[in-house]
Amino acid sequence: MVKICCIGAGYVGGPTMAVIALKCPSVEVAVVDISKSRIAAWNSDQLPIYEPGLDDVVKQCRGKNLFFSTDVEKHVYEADIVFVSVNTPTKTRGLGAGKAADLTYWESAARMIADVSKSDKIVVEKSTVPVKTAEAIEKILTHNAKGIQFQILSNPEFLAEGTAIQDLFNPDRVLIGGRETPEGQKAIQKLKDVYAQWVPGERILTTNLWSAELSKLAANAFLAQRISSVNAMSALCEATGANVKQVSFAVGTDTRIGPKFLNASVGFGGSCFQKDILNLVYICECNGLPEVAEYWKQVIKINDYQKSRFVNRVVSSMFNTVANKKIAILGFAFKKDTGDTRETPAIDVCKGLLGDKARLSIYDPQVTEDQIQRDLWMNKFDWDHPIHLQPTSPTTEKKVSVVWDAYEATKDADGVCILTEWDEFKSLDYQRMYDNMRKPAFVFDGRNVVDDDKLREIGFIVYSIGKPLDPWLKDMPAVA
Ligand code: NAI
Repeated sequence: MVKICCIGAGYVGGPTMAVIALKCPSVEVAVVDISKSRIAAWNSDQLPIYEPGLDDVVKQCRGKNLFFSTDVEKHVYEADIVFVSVNTPTKTRGLGAGKAADLTYWESAARMIADVSKSDKIVVEKSTVPVKTAEAIEKILTHNAKGIQFQILSNPEFLAEGTAIQDLFNPDRVLIGGRETPEGQKAIQKLKDVYAQWVPGERILTTNLWSAELSKLAANAFLAQRISSVNAMSALCEATGANVKQVSFAVGTDTRIGPKFLNASVGFGGSCFQKDILNLVYICECNGLPEVAEYWKQVIKINDYQKSRFVNRVVSSMFNTVANKKIAILGFAFKKDTGDTRETPAIDVCKGLLGDKARLSIYDPQVTEDQIQRDLWMNKFDWDHPIHLQPTSPTTEKKVSVVWDAYEATKDADGVCILTEWDEFKSLDYQRMYDNMRKPAFVFDGRNVVDDDKLREIGFIVYSIGKPLDPWLKDMPAVA
């Protein structure tokens, strides 16, 4: 029986390993983590992450061929294949601060693998890492090998949160990079055999190590670039009276461009896009390619511009001040169908409004109060560390309340900001909301989910990203 161990029981390690266990009953999978609370949650009925379909998969395999444990060393020792899916935060200090990846967790995982191994192993990079990380890891492993053979593979993960299980069941592609030596090719084949149990052969791509590592960074940069492109257009649409939905539909029907990832919004978030682009920028700079670095940096700059443009629009519409006004925030997760708040645009929007002294009442169907308070007081990049190493939030903050109902959030509010595209926000009783708000009542739709005409009929002043502006908003221009 092939034994797999995955170090890191997070958004990637948990779902990917659960699906491998489900699809490969003859493989034994152990997911290990240094966070006791995370492992306890994986072993309970309340999994540590919300992902549609995940509960079902875990329930089917847990205790049979899927195990969650804090006994990292035992499971690494027993494994034939070790996946490493630990945090790769952006460095906050020293060389490359603010851009380069901090490989502390990766390096400590690699050293531990070298220490406890007594048999040959395949070590698989599942985390997104800078190009040539595998080479560094290989050096750590081989210098500490004691005669054991390690083969390094890069197998970056392309799942999207919110649709992770579907993506894993039916991936566009699985990418495996390895050394171009006979041993490297043998290792690739062994991992290929695992995926081939449910992924069609033509969708399993094999490359050299560096191509696999770079492909992951490139794919995220391309995806984020599409969002920044349409968001840049949304600003121009507002200035000219064009409608970004119509423009993006017209653009996306070109088969060379395609319709996906062309929704204008308050900005992209999630743990990967910004981090991976910063990483790419750093690699370009280190390789003497400042023009290429600048090109990709612009994707992040437009994303930041979009968030501050949104805040400015809110403040300027409400007579240039939101001091002591109650603003309801609907949605805090970085996208629908996940409870993940890492780099969510809601953080910057809320911080911007708090900076202007607003009072916030926040509702998200999947994010806890503790998480929201923590996110609003955490420093940039602090979130990407194991949970027990993150700073805790101050006990309470009067300016921010978190409630469990959209109507409670909007009661007596002056304005509503929709920051996540949760389906339930489309079918709220906006008349009821309007009746309980202060007038004039505003809706700022950062995800273009509401029927703006209907809301205007009710009496709201509506701002929808990239759509023709209400006369009210035209009279109060917001400059970012
Ligand atoms: P995460 O923060 O949810 O999980 C990482 C886990 O690793 C944490 O639970 C932490 O306690 C654990 N850990 C850290 N050091 C450890 C060690 N030495 N031994 C044992 N456990 C350790 O992160 P997530 O989202 O799962 O991401 C992991 C990697 O995958 C990152 O490199 C990320 O960029 C990449 N990725 C993330 C995607 C996503 O959608 N979240 C998609 C594709 C890749």
